[in-house]
Amino acid sequence: MLTVFNHPLITHKLALMRDKNTSTKDFAQQLDEIAGLMAFEVSRDLPTKEKRVETPMGPCVTEELASDVVLVPILRAGLGMVDGIRDLIPTAKVGFIGMFRNEKTLQPKEYFAKFPDMSNATVMVLDPMLATGGSASAALTKIKERGAKNIKLVCLVGVPEGVKRIEEDHPDVDIYLAALDEKLNEIGYIVPGLGDAGDRIFGTK
Ligand code: PRP
Ligand code: URA
Repeated sequence: MLTVFNHPLITHKLALMRDKNTSTKDFAQQLDEIAGLMAFEVSRDLPTKEKRVETPMGPCVTEELASDVVLVPILRAGLGMVDGIRDLIPTAKVGFIGMFRNEKTLQPKEYFAKFPDMSNATVMVLDPMLATGGSASAALTKIKERGAKNIKLVCLVGVPEGVKRIEEDHPDVDIYLAALDEKLNEIGYIVPGLGDAGDRIFGTK
């Protein structure tokens, strides 16, 4: 299932990120805030269980989260989405997968992986950019090999090619996008997109 947010607050913040004159600091700040806003909706179907508390007025039967949430940013750019979601879900555990896309072949190469137990968790895989979908697809395959069963892919900007790739390779994974852009250009960048997300978050270009 694909969810595209198209929400005025998210679109407004994304417009700042798209602007090539936005500073590294402001770019990272907007990404952080959008990730938090998206988390609210992505977490809508998290399982809950009964909890009894005493309010100042007396007993209350209410609910609390019933299972772990694990965030898995795809390094580097996915790192920029972690804090915004942890602000909302402070009990979330964090795993990491490093993927580097070869600039010529556009094939992803994994260079790092470290995960907590994901077998009973809702796992949110984070990456601002869903371009060819190669990096996300490879990350999802690895995360499933490590035991994850309930997985959501949370990206900022995607294109139809990337969505199609994930729907074909991982039909069980729900995809969330802040915006669905038009296309990939001849060097595999999203158009209009926002440029190289990793470089813009970490000021490396
Ligand atoms: C970017 C981005 C995704 C990937 C998307 O990462 O953050 O991981 O490219 O492209 P794809 O859908 O075609 O695979 P990059 O390889 O530039 O690494 P970085 O995050 O370290 O900059
Ligand atoms: N990776 C990025 O950072 N940006 C794109 O547009 C495509 C892949």
